[in-house]
Amino acid sequence: MSRHFGERTENAERMVGIKDVAREAGVSVGTVSNVINRPERVSQETRARVQAAIERLGYVRSESARQLRAGSSRLVALLVLDMANPFFVDLARGAERAARRAGLGVVVCNSGQNPDEEAEYLALFAEQRVNGVLVTPADPTGRTLDTLRRQGTPFVLVDRVAPGTEQCSVSVDDVAGGALIGRHLAQAGHRTLAYVSGPPHLRQVQDRREGMHRALAEAGLPPEALLELPAGQLDVAAGRDAGARLLGLAQRPTAVFCANDLLALGVLQAMYAAGVRVPEDLAIVGYDDIEFAAAAAVPLTSVRQPAAALGNMAAELLLEETGQAAPDHCHQRVVLQPELVVRQSSLFRR
Ligand code: RIB
Repeated sequence: MSRHFGERTENAERMVGIKDVAREAGVSVGTVSNVINRPERVSQETRARVQAAIERLGYVRSESARQLRAGSSRLVALLVLDMANPFFVDLARGAERAARRAGLGVVVCNSGQNPDEEAEYLALFAEQRVNGVLVTPADPTGRTLDTLRRQGTPFVLVDRVAPGTEQCSVSVDDVAGGALIGRHLAQAGHRTLAYVSGPPHLRQVQDRREGMHRALAEAGLPPEALLELPAGQLDVAAGRDAGARLLGLAQRPTAVFCANDLLALGVLQAMYAAGVRVPEDLAIVGYDDIEFAAAAAVPLTSVRQPAAALGNMAAELLLEETGQAAPDHCHQRVVLQPELVVRQSSLFRR
């Protein structure tokens, strides 16, 4: 059947259905369904005949019909803050590894650290009846997650500690991570430092700052020893911009801690372009320990977040909550300890 629209001819063909396959193969609809879903119940000869009919007709199972029957899709949604950040690429790889073992797929979406984007994606996931959601929250209020919970979509927080006990979470202790860096720089003799932070609503940015302040206080430094340079985004361009501000300071600090490695790589670029020696003139430390930290022109000291392990554990918790073991599932709050990886960018004793 074809229809003419102006110059355009459109072949409007009806989608091949399971009844077409049954008729073509000379079997019942139930037999076709068994060949697709429970092949062990069908003889080899009938399976071959039905498969041949499926291939001849180009039949594709209706996932939406299956979802309606099963109550959810075979996809897990992963909502990250910044898809361009290698930290989240590694996290996604870990989640995908666990999901594949359970025969599920992972669809990765990007909130861009924007609570409104987050709300729209979480609504889409609920509407599409995904199997569950892994999310690094951008919204500090938790409003969007409350909505998801009310809609009955299981979710696990990744890279964020769950505030209560009503869901699972897997994260690294970012306060401890910030403190590791503060102690490292104080012990290296730094007395004037800067913190290149990120969007103030992100808990990661707040906790890393808190840890840094605690360690500097323990070392006897006053709060004003740490100058904060807010960055609008947690990316390399914002790091270059922060580097330019550092260069413009009349009294430049001798060390800078950046809220993540991408910011630190941007600061490193700015210092290199201005002829500022790292670490002699300025020590630089990042956070995450992405693979480019070690590969930087001046290998970057950083705090390792085991991103792939975070993603894998979070997905395992979600699959336990949504799978056969669901009745026995108890929500867990997994908090891993960070590890300081010291490299050349901060190795200089004042
Ligand atoms: O993208 C934001 C940051 O938060 C990442 O670099 C990672 O550190 C996460 O915790």
